[in-house]
Amino acid sequence: MNALQERLEALFSIGTEISSTLQLDEVLNRVTAQACRLMEARVASLLLIDAERGTLRPAATHGASDAYLALPDREVDSSLISQVITSGRPLHIPDVRQETRYRVSDVARQEGLCTLVSIPLRTKTTIIGVLNVYTGEPRCFDDDDLRLLTLLASQSAIAIENARLHRDEMETRERLRQSEKLAALGTLSAGLAHELRNPLNTVSLLTYAMGQDLAADSAFAADVKIVQTELARMSLLIEQFLEFARPRPPHFQRERIEEVMEETLLLIGPEARTRGIRVVKDWARQLPAVWADGTQIKQVFLNLLLNAMQAMDHGGTLTVRIAVSGGSLLTAIMDEGTGVSPEVRAKLFEPFFSTRQGGTGLGLSISQRIVESHNGRLRLSSQPGAGTAVIVRLPL
Ligand SMILES: Nc1ncnc2c1ncn2[C@@H]1O[C@H](COP(=O)(O)OP(=O)(O)OP(=O)(O)O)[C@@H](O)[C@H]1O
Ligand SMILES: [Mg+2]
Repeated sequence: MNALQERLEALFSIGTEISSTLQLDEVLNRVTAQACRLMEARVASLLLIDAERGTLRPAATHGASDAYLALPDREVDSSLISQVITSGRPLHIPDVRQETRYRVSDVARQEGLCTLVSIPLRTKTTIIGVLNVYTGEPRCFDDDDLRLLTLLASQSAIAIENARLHRDEMETRERLRQSEKLAALGTLSAGLAHELRNPLNTVSLLTYAMGQDLAADSAFAADVKIVQTELARMSLLIEQFLEFARPRPPHFQRERIEEVMEETLLLIGPEARTRGIRVVKDWARQLPAVWADGTQIKQVFLNLLLNAMQAMDHGGTLTVRIAVSGGSLLTAIMDEGTGVSPEVRAKLFEPFFSTRQGGTGLGLSISQRIVESHNGRLRLSSQPGAGTAVIVRLPL
């Protein structure tokens, strides 16, 4: 058996070994270890393309020290290795210590690296990275070496792709399992909330009657008041939760949005006055009607106006603007409140996220869902300290 045949056999068993696992890390480690063995090299490393960041990320190395491992990700565009990716052809550098285009020649010197061969990792459709092989002494890689390495690289690329597909499938399965669990939990808790409604109503009615019967100076009068307030809070929480867990499809009618807004502003009027908030209405008389569920849109406006007022601790102006823009009717609710920090911004629309004491954190997620069921959009823009604007866009 000649030397090439021997190496081909070695390659065959290496290929089998690499693809005998679907664990991505394990595949990557095996590729670099076997590349070193096959080429009797000092170091082998795998750099994979991170498409989102536009970098080449060291994914595994064999034979390298910590200094080499600590090298940062390389920009795909500017690195010498990028030639391998763009041309799809191997790169052969006889001595990296002498090569001016090789940027980390000091690390190469420390590691005792000399000749580099870099081979593209090619799958059926694309190049996913490179396999680098370094020797410790000058070596002239001949055509057979390059062919062998190219075969190893293509086997490796397939094994990496399979392992990635396997990982993605596992992640998808896990996500599905989680969301099924959440859905089951949702149904269960919606059922529970529904069941709690009746006893809560009974208790509320009885406490109301008790309150009526008690003399105003009774020792229990204040306690009963507190019980009533807390019961009202529980009812609200349950109603909000049910609204969230079992949304009703909208009942569409021609609605004049400015009239819905007027009705909602009447509701918040007393609260606005107590808080020293001035409400400015800014809309034209002749606005087109939209197809909408008036009750649901009123709920959206109420949530947004309450949020705006709750953000204005020291009073101020609350401006409501309604206008036609690009085939939609825009309603903007602008406050002069605390604004929203970037951390809060990221979580605003998550159900049950609230920074307010006593807040259920459902207001915005319910509102967003209602607006989306109207084929509309709800957008919030804010600068901490400079107030917040929430814009509801409904199609005309
Ligand atoms: N106009 C606003 N200005 C500043 N922060 C806001 C504004 N609107 C919403 N937020 C922030 O978003 C969070 C979530 O709002 P959301 O309406 O969903 O819940 P909540 O108001 O806390 O409770 P509730 O369910 O009773 O409405 C609030 O706790 C608040 O931190
Ligand atoms: Mg709210």
